[in-house]
Amino acid sequence: MFKQIQTRLLLSYLAVLTVVLGVFAISVRTTFAYNLNHQLNNRLATLARSAALELELDGGTLSVDLENITNENQAVQWFDEDGTLIESQGQYVATLPLKQEPSFQTQQHPYPVKALTIPVTDENKGLFLGYTRVSESTVAFNNTLRTLDIGLGSGIIAALALSTLGGLWLTRQAMSPIENSFRRLQRFTSDASHELRSPLMAIQTNATVALKYPENMRTSDAEKFGAIKSASKQMKALTEDLLMLARLDQETVVKHTAFNLSPVLEQLHTLYQPQASTEQINFQVKFEPNLPTVGNKIQITRLLTNLIDNALRYTPEGGMVTVTAKSSPTKLIISVEDTGIGIAPGHLDHIFDRFWQADQARAYKKDGAGLGLAIAQNIAHSHGGEIKVISHLGQGSCFTIELPAG
Ligand SMILES: Nc1ncnc2c1ncn2[C@@H]1O[C@H](COP(=O)(O)OP(=O)(O)O)[C@@H](O)[C@H]1O
Ligand SMILES: [Mg+2]
Repeated sequence: MFKQIQTRLLLSYLAVLTVVLGVFAISVRTTFAYNLNHQLNNRLATLARSAALELELDGGTLSVDLENITNENQAVQWFDEDGTLIESQGQYVATLPLKQEPSFQTQQHPYPVKALTIPVTDENKGLFLGYTRVSESTVAFNNTLRTLDIGLGSGIIAALALSTLGGLWLTRQAMSPIENSFRRLQRFTSDASHELRSPLMAIQTNATVALKYPENMRTSDAEKFGAIKSASKQMKALTEDLLMLARLDQETVVKHTAFNLSPVLEQLHTLYQPQASTEQINFQVKFEPNLPTVGNKIQITRLLTNLIDNALRYTPEGGMVTVTAKSSPTKLIISVEDTGIGIAPGHLDHIFDRFWQADQARAYKKDGAGLGLAIAQNIAHSHGGEIKVISHLGQGSCFTIELPAG
């Protein structure tokens, strides 16, 4: 149980950290890429301005005064007013069709470049001359971003790996005092229940012995002894339930053996038949002759008695309780179905909680302390099984247990 909480705590911590680091990495990358792009745009704009100055109208014909204005990653193209290429300079010229309006263009093939086109006019004469398109290779730009991505990615992985180690240590530190006090509480419950058993047994035995000769005592005394006997019986059952839960919580390894469940069901049928007849409940147990399983026979029997006991307890006279068991290659499925008072949908989440009892059920039958289903669920889980319930108020309930097949 503590391992589970610790794992959940660690996973939540790592999830939060991943989100924080992710947001951080995305912001760093976005800001960096924005700045890099901004610088590239500025370089292209400056280059475009100098390139525009090179285009001139010389005696009616458009010509380019070719000066080396590009670096090894850049290129310039000059076009006339119809968009026909007149001259170009540099290696990384854009090969895309010219856009006849001021705009940025990007291309990936045959090489990645970003280009800027601007219209050129003769300032003095106010004449439209043509266009110039400048471009720059984005290989370095892309490489810088890729290096940043790798850096951020490995940084996040390293941070998460270190945080996992740190988180493991932290969660262990945090859980240890809670675990210790829980263990102390468990030990106290188990010791107290164990110590209470003998005096309760003595009270019950003495009350039974005293009641053996009721003729020698006053009727009111006999009634009191009867009450003592019944109360001590109830307390004994409660201490035994508490002891059982404390032991199940301690996750002490109990002996698991392979056995056939059919004889156990047969015995339970015989055991509960008289009670069912007294309460005029039609009690049926249907099972296949061979139901191999692996587990602790005593605990699985306890699981079933808790469910059958509930089904009989919460089913009024004339009702029906049916236990069905069947096997599949991997699972053993046992269901305990009744036509009793049912469980309200809002209560279904609580019925497996310790000491939880539905109010109307408490009014319906008073004995029982609300530990039966908690024990049943604990046993099912400790056997690698599952317990589920479907119930309709006023119509009945069906508890299904799945256990690993033997
Ligand atoms: N078959 C059932 N039909 C209706 N209600 C049930 C049934 N089984 C359990 N419950 C409800 O769940 C509560 C918890 O059951 P359990 O843990 O066995 O405690 P207890 O039987 O001692 O009250 C019961 O008090 C009852 O309200
Ligand atoms: Mg019960």
